[in-house]
Amino acid sequence: MPAASELLAAARKAREHAYAPYSNFAVGAALATKAGDVVTGANVENASYPVGMCAERTALFSAVARGHRDFDAIAIVGPEGVALTPCGACRQALSEFGDMRVVREGCDDVALRDLLPDAFGPRHLARTGI
Ligand code: THU
Repeated sequence: MPAASELLAAARKAREHAYAPYSNFAVGAALATKAGDVVTGANVENASYPVGMCAERTALFSAVARGHRDFDAIAIVGPEGVALTPCGACRQALSEFGDMRVVREGCDDVALRDLLPDAFGPRHLARTGI
């Protein structure tokens, strides 16, 4: 598992590719898989504002599309000086794949399940037979 500092460095590198001309709020994310891979993402905005996507979900969807489903940790960096924490939609999207460590700048690591307690997930659908 990469050290928190390595994962943050990967997220900082990914942030260089953020496309954020509307908010000017560049975000980078780096997702560490249990197999030892690191998949990164950046936020990608759109002139049709709601169509834009957060860095965390860009990294997650990219990782899943490459066959990864088991994750150890995600590191997230926003603009310098901003203590960033993932938005609710990203917490939900990440929690689909179970718990993981969330690494942020300037604060202690936290478990995703503590950022999104009692999350709705696949187990709820299973109970309905879906
Ligand atoms: N954003 C992220 O990429 N991740 C977060 O955790 C919070 C917000 C993006 C969305 C949008 O492009 C910009 O930051 C401002 O909200």
